[in-house]
Amino acid sequence: MTELVLATNNANKLREIQAQLALPSVRVLSPREAGVPANFDVEETGETFTENALLKAKAFAAIAHAPVVADDSGLMVHALNGEPGVHSKRWIPGSDHERNMHLLEKLKDQSDREAEFITVLALYLPDTDTAHFFEGRVSGKIGAEERGNAGFGYDPLFIPDGYTQTFAELGEEVKNTLSHRARAVQKLKVFLEAWQEGSDADVSTISRSY
Ligand code: IMP
Repeated sequence: MTELVLATNNANKLREIQAQLALPSVRVLSPREAGVPANFDVEETGETFTENALLKAKAFAAIAHAPVVADDSGLMVHALNGEPGVHSKRWIPGSDHERNMHLLEKLKDQSDREAEFITVLALYLPDTDTAHFFEGRVSGKIGAEERGNAGFGYDPLFIPDGYTQTFAELGEEVKNTLSHRARAVQKLKVFLEAWQEGSDADVSTISRSY
């Protein structure tokens, strides 16, 4: 049995990853279960999703002394040159709802509504001081107003390609089949299965920055 600590205080991310990472041979621990204080936070000073995911993974591993998975995610809006991107969480001070209103205001009169969610997961192994990265993306459009109650962040505005409803309307079960996070977790699962079998051939890791 491999124990992995999830380096996040975001209850929504934790729940989504725990649901997606269901493997009989892997036990996913919350930070609290791994002895990390509830208020432990890491300043996201990196310029890329990869840098921030690694920062978080290493900081949690220093306390938990165990393999850690950290998630850094964001929304890239085409008409805003990829903003809010790595700044998605703290784009403007306030609540998720206020950030959504800010985004709608910025896209007022804008016909280009294309956007992409991205997740980079960092798996950090403290024993060998090595890291592996897994990326997932999903394309979609920014709706005209907030719709739906599920999820978090920009979910009430994001309509994935091929759907007419937002992530917040589709709900977590559907979101977990097609989201940026689900796609990154899928790659992590392939890696973990190969790793546990003692082979690291044919694993879907990335090591580039963007
Ligand atoms: P971070 O990964 O903790 O830096 O936070 C990323 C921010 O991007 C979150 O606070 C949300 O605002 C947004 N975000 C990331 N993933 C999602 C998602 O699955 N749905 C909606 N918003 C998300």
